[in-house]
Amino acid sequence: MAEKPIIIILLGPPASGKGTQADRIQEELGIPHIASGDLFRDHISRETDLGSRAKSYIDRGDLVPDQLTIDMVAERISRKDTKKGAMLDGFPRTIVQAKALDELLAKSKKELIGVLYFSVPDEVLVERLSGRRICPVCGRSYHVKFYPPEQPGVCDVDGAELYQREDDRPETVRQRLNVYREQTSPLIDYYRTRGLLIEIDGDQPIDHVTEDILSAINSL
Ligand code: AP5
Ligand code: MG
Ligand code: ZN
Repeated sequence: MAEKPIIIILLGPPASGKGTQADRIQEELGIPHIASGDLFRDHISRETDLGSRAKSYIDRGDLVPDQLTIDMVAERISRKDTKKGAMLDGFPRTIVQAKALDELLAKSKKELIGVLYFSVPDEVLVERLSGRRICPVCGRSYHVKFYPPEQPGVCDVDGAELYQREDDRPETVRQRLNVYREQTSPLIDYYRTRGLLIEIDGDQPIDHVTEDILSAINSL
């Protein structure tokens, strides 16, 4: 039987571990990790037109308008490296985006096999965001306390100097959490009623979360 390309969605609040876990499982699953936030940050650093339109929303902690986001992700998932499928991190984030994705997948004959929903209490999220450090070269997330690099401030993989994301400032973090609650959390029920939701306890050590995800995916 010819298998369709598979799509897995990573759904969860800011700092719930979507990016961290995607980096750890993408090789195992053999499908690329596509993060809408990373795509926007790449546009901003290359100073593209899309980057300049998205920047003010991201800096405030608001969502970028749906259509800009949908077009960007649609283009990315049409590329050749997704012929076996993809892991979507941070998209969809509104019901409008979820419906657009349904249409896109129907057209491109890709199958959504599961939505991993990372649940983590708010106070843990705030602590994770304030200590997060990112590598500008490979995009890996570290944490000063929970996931420190071997040498402080330097990426283990490529030696680049780590930086702090601008939207990880406390005022912006509060707004991102509100936006998540209002606009993104309705997706939990959207996918639950379709039998696609897989709840992952994201408030455990990083390795345990990875084990839970792999066993959930293997039992699909
Ligand atoms: P985006 O980049 O998607 O940010 P986010 O959803 O807020 O998620 P984060 O990347 O902050 O968290 P994460 O879950 O990946 O956590 P991580 O693994 O890094 O979006 C940014 C902005 O872009 C949005 O605000 C919006 O403006 C725009 N945007 C993006 N997508 C959009 C869309 N679809 N529509 C409209 N606008 C969009 O982990 C966090 C920290 O915790 C790290 O330091 C890590 O080391 C640590 N950590 C991870 N797991 C654990 C653990 N188990 N225990 C202890 N520490 C841990
Ligand atoms: Mg992320
Ligand atoms: Zn790196």
